Amino acid sequence: MKRIGILTSGGDAPGENPCIRAVVRTGIGHGLEMVGIHRGYTGLIEADMEPLNARSVGGIIQKGGTFLETARCPEFKTEEGQRTALRNLNRHGLEALVVIGGDGSQTGALKLHQMGSPVIGIPATIDNDLAFTDIAIGVDTALNTLLDAIDRIKDTASSHQRAFLVEVMGRNSGYLALMGGIAGGAEAIVIPEVETSCEELAERVKDAYVRGKAHFIAVVAEGAKPDTQTLAQHLSGRKLGFEVRVTILGHVQRGGSPTAFDRLLATRLGAAAVQQLMKGQKGKMVGLIGNKVVATDLEKVLAIPKSVDLEFYKLAQMLER
Ligand code: ADP
Ligand code: F6P
Repeated sequence: MKRIGILTSGGDAPGENPCIRAVVRTGIGHGLEMVGIHRGYTGLIEADMEPLNARSVGGIIQKGGTFLETARCPEFKTEEGQRTALRNLNRHGLEALVVIGGDGSQTGALKLHQMGSPVIGIPATIDNDLAFTDIAIGVDTALNTLLDAIDRIKDTASSHQRAFLVEVMGRNSGYLALMGGIAGGAEAIVIPEVETSCEELAERVKDAYVRGKAHFIAVVAEGAKPDTQTLAQHLSGRKLGFEVRVTILGHVQRGGSPTAFDRLLATRLGAAAVQQLMKGQKGKMVGLIGNKVVATDLEKVLAIPKSVDLEFYKLAQMLER
């Protein structure tokens, strides 16, 4: 193997830059030529790429985002888009590809593998919804960012005796809300995986007020049903003791300098992806399982929807007093 490509795709995640750095420098260490593809699968379809050397990835380890840029590329979901991508890989002499991204991006990687192109995937998504890795790149940084926000909201919530609904990201997954809620000492956690009715939440707010709490913080996942607005409408104007406010954290959770944990995870997984290719492995995703780097077939990874561990939900309930 002489020449390999690397791309970041889908929603960005803090830690993608240190991951690219590790892939590029490990590749160069193994005598490979490295090529960076811009804007994920869009860049692959448009053949928007550049050679990368060890210096190209200098000074990025501490930076959020991805210097290769990323994109959502509907065209790549079509057979024609995938064929164009494959043609560009061949035309540019890219004998393998490393794909850094979330479940959609890994699904795309599997398609390329099934079409005969050696691919290794690296999980990077703040949603932490990929199986066969305990944690994806970006999750730790996002958690720390949202914790900082919850701590600040708690200050003002206590000063004004208010209930806050704090919406955190997680289109289909309650991971960030659950872990952020536990670590932030929330009074309630609302996630798509567990049914919570508007009335139940209202009762809990009322009850917390009566028990003398200074504030009420509910961490709500973006994908929860009922959603944040519905919950807020139900709570507003009712006599609950606490006045109600809503804060939607949004994309602030996707940016920022990666934490030490994310830099180390990204570095380990990036190096492992190249090592897998050097061993002749393909169609796999490298992940962290019990602090060991493990490579699992992409097909197996994507066959299992990862759900949150409901033991953590029980733990949260125990502490919400
Ligand atoms: P993430 O990787 O963060 O989950 P998306 O779900 O938006 O983000 O996926 C990123 C990109 O991966 C999509 O824009 C598309 O190009 C590609 N992709 C997603 N799903 C598929 C699929 N079923 N087949 C082929 N490519 C896909
Ligand atoms: O990165 C995953 C995610 O953060 C989801 O939780 C969220 O719904 C989505 O991306 C939003 O991203 P965008 O605005 O880039 O489509």
